[in-house]
Amino acid sequence: MIRRKGQFYILETEHTTLILKPETAECVYYGRKIRFCGIAELLAGSERRIVSQPWRGDFTEQNVLLYNADGGFTYDFVYSKGKISAEKPEIAGLPSSYGEGKTLELKFVDGPTKVCLYQYYTVYENSDVIAVSAQLVNQSKKEIRLRRLMSIQLDLPREEAEVISFRGVWGRERHRTVQPITKGIYICDSKKGMSSHECNPFVILKNGTGLYGFNLLYSGNHAEIFESDERGRIRALTGMSDYMFEWKLAPTESFCAPEAVLCYAESEDELSERMHAFVREHIVRGKWKNRERPVLVNNWEGTYFNFDEKKILSIAAAAKEVGAELFVLDDGWFGKRNDDRSSLGDWYDNVEKTGGGLASLAGKIRDLGLAFGIWVEPEMISEDSDLYRSHPNFAMKIPGREPWRIRNQLVLNLADERVQNYVVRAIGDVLSRSGAAYVKWDFNRHFTDCFGKGIVGGEYFHRYLLGYYKVVSKLTKKFPSVLFEGCASGGGRFDLGNLCYFQQYWTSDDTDARERLAIQAGTACGYPQNTMGAHVSAQVNHQTGRRNSFAAQFNVACGGVLGYELDLSALTETERAVIKEQIAFYKDKRKLLQFGKQFRLQAPRAEGFITVSADQSEAIAVVNVTETHPNEPLPFIRFKGLNESAVYSVSVRGRTETVLAGGDVLMRGAIPLFGVFDTEPVQRECGGLFSSMYILKKVKA
Ligand code: GLA
Repeated sequence: MIRRKGQFYILETEHTTLILKPETAECVYYGRKIRFCGIAELLAGSERRIVSQPWRGDFTEQNVLLYNADGGFTYDFVYSKGKISAEKPEIAGLPSSYGEGKTLELKFVDGPTKVCLYQYYTVYENSDVIAVSAQLVNQSKKEIRLRRLMSIQLDLPREEAEVISFRGVWGRERHRTVQPITKGIYICDSKKGMSSHECNPFVILKNGTGLYGFNLLYSGNHAEIFESDERGRIRALTGMSDYMFEWKLAPTESFCAPEAVLCYAESEDELSERMHAFVREHIVRGKWKNRERPVLVNNWEGTYFNFDEKKILSIAAAAKEVGAELFVLDDGWFGKRNDDRSSLGDWYDNVEKTGGGLASLAGKIRDLGLAFGIWVEPEMISEDSDLYRSHPNFAMKIPGREPWRIRNQLVLNLADERVQNYVVRAIGDVLSRSGAAYVKWDFNRHFTDCFGKGIVGGEYFHRYLLGYYKVVSKLTKKFPSVLFEGCASGGGRFDLGNLCYFQQYWTSDDTDARERLAIQAGTACGYPQNTMGAHVSAQVNHQTGRRNSFAAQFNVACGGVLGYELDLSALTETERAVIKEQIAFYKDKRKLLQFGKQFRLQAPRAEGFITVSADQSEAIAVVNVTETHPNEPLPFIRFKGLNESAVYSVSVRGRTETVLAGGDVLMRGAIPLFGVFDTEPVQRECGGLFSSMYILKKVKA
C-alpha cells in the first residue's frame, strides 16, 4: 500500500514501512512496520537522502554523475512532483519484476538544465519487497553525458554494521562473506560484462536495527557501494557499475537504470524467506513458474566431448530405467566440435556424433519415454568456425589488436542488431528442429576487447546487455513451453535479470557434495531452491578428486532441483538401483522439496537445510556433519520453520525407527544427531562429510 500524508509518502508491505519525504529527497524511515505518529517531528531532517546533493556539501558517493553540455558537472535535483499509480512503468529493454503492486513515481528536476530524474518505487506487499528503478530524461536543449545512474540510494543511520556479500570464483560461487563497515567505502561489484562468479548482486547490510537486502535485475556489470561517512550515516547504492560507462543523451532522450530490489527483515532467515517468495512470485514467469521441475540426466561429466549416438542412447536408456524424465545433450553435438577449440556459432548438427542429426537423436530419446533437452552457448564464437570465417566482424574484438582468448573462444558482439538476429534465427532453428523441451543456455567467458562498430566505448557494456535481453526475450517468448536453465561456467551469471527469462540456473560446475554446501547455502540466502540446478555426479568427483557417495550427493542435491550428470550406463546394477530408489523418493517429495519453504541449518560441525510444506505438516531436513573427532559428543541441530505446537514423527531416510517430538522441541532442543554414524556410514560418507536426511510428518498429538 502507498499513501500520502502531507509531505510524506508512506509505503507499506505486510511487515515493513518505507517513509519518504521527497521535498527534501529524504528517506525518513525504512524498517519494521511502524505507525506514522511522530515522524514529522522526530525523524525528518535526518539528512538521509534518496537522491544525493553534491552541491550542498554532500560528498558521499552519489547516485547520479553527469556532464552538462557546457562541460560542467553541476546538478541539483529538486523535487517537482509525485504520483501513485496502479500501473508499473516498463523499463525499456530491461527485465523487470511483475505482479500486483502500486508504484510511486517521484520526479526531480535540475532547474538550470531541466534534466529530470525519475524514481519508481513498486510495493509488493506479500513478499515485503520494494522494487526501485530510476530514469534520467534529458529535457535540456543540448546533449548531456551520463556517467552513473544508480537504481537505489538508501541512507541509514550509522550504527555498527557489516555487509554480507556472496563472493567466489569458478567452482566456489557465492560463499557467504562478512565484512564489517567501519569508516570509508566498501564495494561489491563486477567489471567483467557479467554479474560474475566473483560477486553476486545480492548483498545484505546488517546493522543494530536489522537486515537490509539489495538485489539487482541485471546480468552485466554491477556495483553495490556502502559508504560510512562523516555525517553519521551509511549510504547504500545499488545499480549498474559505472566502470568505463558513459552514455550520451541527446535532447528528449532518456536512460533507464535496471530495476533493483529492497527488502528489510530482522534475521537472515526472514530475509531469505521474503526474497524467495518475491523471486518465485514476481521474477520467475511462464509455464514453469509453479510447475514441478523434471529430474534430468545430463551427459557432460559422463562423456565430455567424446560421444556418439550409441553412447548417448545407452545413457538415455539407463536414465529411463532409473526413472529420470529428461535427457540433456550437452556440449559437442554441433559443427565439428570434439574439443573446446572450434565450432561455436555453427549451430548445425554434427551428423556423425548424433547419428543422423538432432531431430533423429531427439526422436529416439523421446521414443525411450524421455523429454529431450539441449545445450547451447549462443553468445560465443570460435575462430575455427564457419560463422567466423564468413562474419569475422561478428566477434567482439578491437581492430588492430590480438583478442584475448578464454577457453579458446571470443564473445559475439550482441550489441549489433545483425548479430542478435543471427543468434535468434540459429538458436530458434535448433529448438524447432530438435523439439527440445529444455535448453541449457551457457556462457563460458567474460568480456575483454569490448568493441563494436559504431558503438561508443562507454556504452558498450550496457548495449551488449540490451542486445542480450532482446535475444533471450524473443527466444523465450517464441518457445513458451520450454524450460530454460541458464549457465555461465557454472553459476557465473546467477542473477535476477536472468531469472526473468530462465526458470532455473546451474549453480556451479563443482558437483562435489562437500563443496556444494557453501555454494548452495550462499545461493539460497537470496534465491529459492527451485531456481538452483543441483546434480549428483560420479562417485570420484571430477573437480576435487574426492570420493562422494551417491547417498550423500543425493541428500545435498535435494537442496536444489535434482539432476544426474554421469555415465549411468557404466554403473553397476546395484548402483543404478540406488539411484532408482532416490529418484522415486524425490518424485514423491518433489513438490515439498522444490516449492516448500527452505531454511538453512547451522550448528557447530554440522550444517544443512530443512524444507517445510506451506501448511507445516511435512518437512525434509538434510544435516551434514562436516567434522568428526574421536571422543567428542555428537553434533546437534535445531530445526526451523515447523509448527511449534504440532507433534512430528521423525525418521532417518533408509532406517525404520521413528521418534515422536514436538515442533518446539525440534526447533529449540539442540538435538544430538542420532543415526548419523550407526548404519552403513560409508554409504553416506562423502570426503569426510556424513549426511543424513530426516523425514518429518505431523501426527495427531
Ligand atoms: C560449461 C558448463 C558445463 C558444461 C560445459 C560444456 O563449463 O558450466 O556444465 O556445459 O560448459 O562445455
